[in-house]
Amino acid sequence: MLVVIKKDYEEVSSEAARIIAGAVRSNPTIVLGLATGSTPLGLYKELIALHRAGDLDFSQATSFNLDEYLGLPASHPQSFHFFMKQNFFSHVNLSSANVHIPDGTISGDYDAYCAQYEQCIKAAGGIDLQILGIGRNGHVGFNEPTSSLASRTRLKALSRETVDDNRHFFANESEMPKCAITMGIGTILDSRRVLLLASGRSKAAAVAKAIEGPITSSVSASALQMHADVTFMKRSVTNANRWRHRRHKISPRRLQR
Ligand code: F6R
Repeated sequence: MLVVIKKDYEEVSSEAARIIAGAVRSNPTIVLGLATGSTPLGLYKELIALHRAGDLDFSQATSFNLDEYLGLPASHPQSFHFFMKQNFFSHVNLSSANVHIPDGTISGDYDAYCAQYEQCIKAAGGIDLQILGIGRNGHVGFNEPTSSLASRTRLKALSRETVDDNRHFFANESEMPKCAITMGIGTILDSRRVLLLASGRSKAAAVAKAIEGPITSSVSASALQMHADVTFMKRSVTNANRWRHRRHKISPRRLQR
């Protein structure tokens, strides 16, 4: 496991973009695993800039997104389909035929649909490089605490913490889906390479548990300790502290408590 600590969010984003761009250039038919959320927004901006500068071609690449809220159509502004289109796909030349995101509108046989998603990843040759964010509770994808470390793509109920973290995106809590379709931890571990990005004090405890704690289903990201090629890229909390200390003129010792 490689742990890379960067000065700030911008550096995390640009270094992650550099790694992904290098991987795409050396393997133009790469299969990327993609994440949504606030963390990879800077990364997507950097990749778009490289593409616009003529330095990065996604025309032969394939992508699989980690997850999607159950019940949200692609046109819903809070769906991950919408997020990906707005923040990445509509700005680069990834062919829509090669883009895969779980369908939040399916009903009926969820298991069959999820098995098909897994099959599709397999048919594409497996994921070469998986991008991950991390939840405050240590989730990767929507593999909430107590997810099986061998889990595959499936329907998953969201934890209270995840609902709390994301409900502000919806007009009211009742509009926020309480379930999602997510790749499993086993699916993620099958990727050839994993790059997890983390930024913000609220993630510090989850990142520490994932890197140094025991491998446990209580912290899904801790399963990444079993992966042979994983990089955690995080923002230095010390720097953030120093910055907050200057801005708010409070003792750094107080912040560390
Ligand atoms: C998103 C996903 C989630 C997020 C995580 C962090 O596709 O699978 O695991 O990566 O919830 O979200 P942010 O980046 O918004 O803090």
